[in-house]
Amino acid sequence: MKSPGGVLQGRVALITGGGRGIGKGIAIRIAEAGADVIIGDIDRDSAEQTAKELGANYERAVALQVDVTKKESIDAVVRKVLKEFSTIDILINNAGIMFRTRILDISPEEWENTLLVNLTGPFLFSQAVIPLMKKSGYGRIVNISSSAGRSVSTLGGAHYTATKAGLLGFTRAVAKEVASFGITVNAVCPGLIDTQMARDSTSKEELEMFIHSFPIKRLGLPEEIGDLVVFLSSEKASYITGASFDINAGGLMI
Ligand SMILES: NC(=O)c1ccc[n+]([C@@H]2O[C@H](COP(=O)([O-])OP(=O)(O)OC[C@H]3O[C@@H](n4cnc5c(N)ncnc54)[C@H](O)[C@@H]3O)[C@@H](O)[C@H]2O)c1
Repeated sequence: MKSPGGVLQGRVALITGGGRGIGKGIAIRIAEAGADVIIGDIDRDSAEQTAKELGANYERAVALQVDVTKKESIDAVVRKVLKEFSTIDILINNAGIMFRTRILDISPEEWENTLLVNLTGPFLFSQAVIPLMKKSGYGRIVNISSSAGRSVSTLGGAHYTATKAGLLGFTRAVAKEVASFGITVNAVCPGLIDTQMARDSTSKEELEMFIHSFPIKRLGLPEEIGDLVVFLSSEKASYITGASFDINAGGLMI
């Protein structure tokens, strides 16, 4: 339930891929912290369902269909948001896709598609909202990378690891450029989180084997990623930028 005077009270947050999984967990925690929430997802039904759940319990929650790989789609969403809200204070670049294909079998199309969603999407969305954040003098961008970006993916192929590592470089470069405008840019690197992406990509037995290898012997929950994202999106994190945060059951300690 909403906590009156939450740390994100009065803020407007947009979460890409917020219809399900980690994005939904982040949206729930951000809404609990008092922000208005825009759920941007290519899957209209899940976005609407999540927005409905949030709107019933917290501040305003709106669902907008968006394809993060397309500039026109992002621009249209930003225009719609500005009709209803005055700005976008918080952008969570969470939408992502993963394929397990091994290097010799990755088609150029699959490579390109993975880059488009996981890396071009955060680029296009950041480019669309930074001018708004500059104008208001406050901004928080949180990019959802992965343990894959810090080391190598447990499940995903070379394209997945390449995009998640690329997103960390992108995070640092943009953080450096926009810091003087009151905008911070950070990355969160989850390990294995209990979502459809994780469950669709592996068998029950394989999942159990991974869990057994972690110091904390369970999958992470989407809302646990949300807790960290809320902190990074708040005033309290104003001295943190260009950083990457591991949240992975101790599965990767570097
Ligand atoms: N689940 C894990 O174990 C795990 C671990 C590390 C990092 N991550 C990252 O976290 C993020 C979320 O993963 P998840 O497990 O919740 O995945 P998921 O597949 O359950 O959810 C992804 C969401 O993104 C949306 N999406 C996909 N393509 C899109 C596009 N082009 N435009 C807009 N929305 C689009 C989907 O519709 C879906 O709602 C991803 O970036 C993923 O790489 C996941």
